[in-house]
Amino acid sequence: MVTRDDVAGRAGTSSAVVSYVVNGGPRKVSAATRSKVLRAIEDLGYRPNGLARALRTQKTYTIGLVVPDNVNPFFAQLAKAVEEAAFAQGYVLLLGNSSQDDTRQAAYVRTFLERQVDGVILIAESDIGQPALPGRTASALQGASTPLVLLDRHPSDLWAPSLTVDNEGGAYMATRHLLEHGHAEVVCLAGPTNLHPAQERTQGWRRALREAGMRPKTKSLARSRFRRDEGYVAARELFTGRSRPTAIFAQSDEQAIGVLRWAHETGVRVPEDVALVSFDGIAESAYTNPPLSTVAQPIEELGRRTVELVLAPQPGPAGSPAPEPECLPVRLVVRRTCGCAGEEQDGYAAAAVAPAPGRPS
Ligand code: RIB
Repeated sequence: MVTRDDVAGRAGTSSAVVSYVVNGGPRKVSAATRSKVLRAIEDLGYRPNGLARALRTQKTYTIGLVVPDNVNPFFAQLAKAVEEAAFAQGYVLLLGNSSQDDTRQAAYVRTFLERQVDGVILIAESDIGQPALPGRTASALQGASTPLVLLDRHPSDLWAPSLTVDNEGGAYMATRHLLEHGHAEVVCLAGPTNLHPAQERTQGWRRALREAGMRPKTKSLARSRFRRDEGYVAARELFTGRSRPTAIFAQSDEQAIGVLRWAHETGVRVPEDVALVSFDGIAESAYTNPPLSTVAQPIEELGRRTVELVLAPQPGPAGSPAPEPECLPVRLVVRRTCGCAGEEQDGYAAAAVAPAPGRPS
């Protein structure tokens, strides 16, 4: 078996320096020496004992991330952004899907803690107005000293740094953009009531309508999970037996993709018969037909900032006031489904907004 001394001999340095390179410290190593050591490790096929290293350094250079469902491209892209940021810092990412199930979510948290990860990042299922986290997950975290960051949702009273985006402001921008196309009503296809992002986006939609002197009717608010199949079903219900909506704000690109498929199958033209703006800014939103106008979340920045937070010294012991949630800005990416004919425009500029076909300019 290749030992650290073999690597040191091959690289012309000491075993201690090999350890500094493998463990990322505690002493600094010059770039030239580091590269000789890494080449010797590669040439000799040296595999440091991770467990022995962890015992020695009290670090495993691993981070655990729990997402609701990485089949959803938003979570897939976000997990990739977290993984890139972690890898750049010398950490590997362990990923688990909670599948919106507290037992499963708790099992992943518990396993990550038992494996001595250096930090846990949780995109938690959280019930508005309920205790911060569902019971099993909360008990799995009870007393844990491992750094924790709550991403995308911020359960109210859990003591941990959290990172979200301006859901309310983004929904406001989307709804206002549709109103500026001349629509007399904007239907909101909201996400699940128990999730902060859905609640906050609904607030932004309401604010834009209120500012336009409109009172949202109960039937102007439909709901589904953040899924394509449920967006498809919701579209069918919205167009059955009621005055057909001419504008929809969908709270996720996933739901909007379902709406587009339903519209295509039934001959409802987008944006001519119904305009659509959604939320998330997943890569596919640029490739739907027509391309989606959407409120883009800063997915790369979310990944980078989350890793910075989880690797930073955790401020204050539990019991001190929870740190204020960090909230990153979002941007309206105008493409075609809203009714704008122009190229993709980043950012919410009060662009010359073409009136909806058949409506007065
Ligand atoms: O599409 C998944 C949705 O759930 C995103 O909007 C994200 O913010 C999460 O809350």
